[in-house]
Amino acid sequence: MPRPFESFTHDETERTRLSAAASSDCARMFFTQQGRVVHKWVHYLDIYERHFAVYRNTSVKMLEIGIFEGGSLDLWRRYFGMDATICGIDINPECASRVTLPNQVRIGSQADPQFLRAVIDEVGAPDIVLDDGSHIAHHQRISFDTLFPLLRVGGLYVIEDLHTSYVPGIYEGGYRRRGTAIEYVKEMVDDMHIWYHKKKPRTPTQQMIGAVHFYDSLVVIEKRSIERPGHIKVGG
Ligand SMILES: C[S@@+](CC[C@H](N)C(=O)[O-])C[C@H]1O[C@@H](n2cnc3c(N)ncnc32)[C@H](O)[C@@H]1O
Repeated sequence: MPRPFESFTHDETERTRLSAAASSDCARMFFTQQGRVVHKWVHYLDIYERHFAVYRNTSVKMLEIGIFEGGSLDLWRRYFGMDATICGIDINPECASRVTLPNQVRIGSQADPQFLRAVIDEVGAPDIVLDDGSHIAHHQRISFDTLFPLLRVGGLYVIEDLHTSYVPGIYEGGYRRRGTAIEYVKEMVDDMHIWYHKKKPRTPTQQMIGAVHFYDSLVVIEKRSIERPGHIKVGG
């Protein structure tokens, strides 16, 4: 799937510049990847480290939407360790042969709620969902609406390549266009503050948004069970 605004680079100077800008363990593992190809924007790597490090060497369950060459699942295996459950889904049946055990693969569309629910029934509730699939707005919304309620409380829902929300045509994007992934997540920010404006929620997140971390082209949404906030005065 071509991604807009990207410049593939095999130029050594550019590679050195980009690798120098990323300092995390995740970045180190990315730049030493052997075998299957993994394709990530370099600034994502330190962001993953910030949010994912707590899950390393645990029995974390991760679902990645979008396998492509299969290298990202291999990267997650090296990063999270052998106790992790790592499952990739992709619409392309050829991806099934690009995943090796203990990593798992299921073939189907991220726009098919029945398929997504069946995967979760089999694999279990994930701690991390990473949507790096079609980047088509209504697919991203269907996946979120289906999977966020099934994510573990305390878990993370990550959407990559949000710049596609600005690209008309195949991605169904456009600047501030209603229904794009980036606008949908902005609505979640309003839903998070429902106590103060009392309007009807626009997303199916209920009071389950602990935080929304926006970065360039990537968002990390924390699922938490939120009580109505209160404030008190102490001291004096
Ligand atoms: C950007 S690539 C994934 C890259 C990979 N995660 C990586 O980091 O190297 C996007 C993948 O999404 C898959 N895809 C496209 N439409 C899809 C859909 N409706 N459901 C699931 N996967 C889809 C494509 O077949 C492709 O393999």
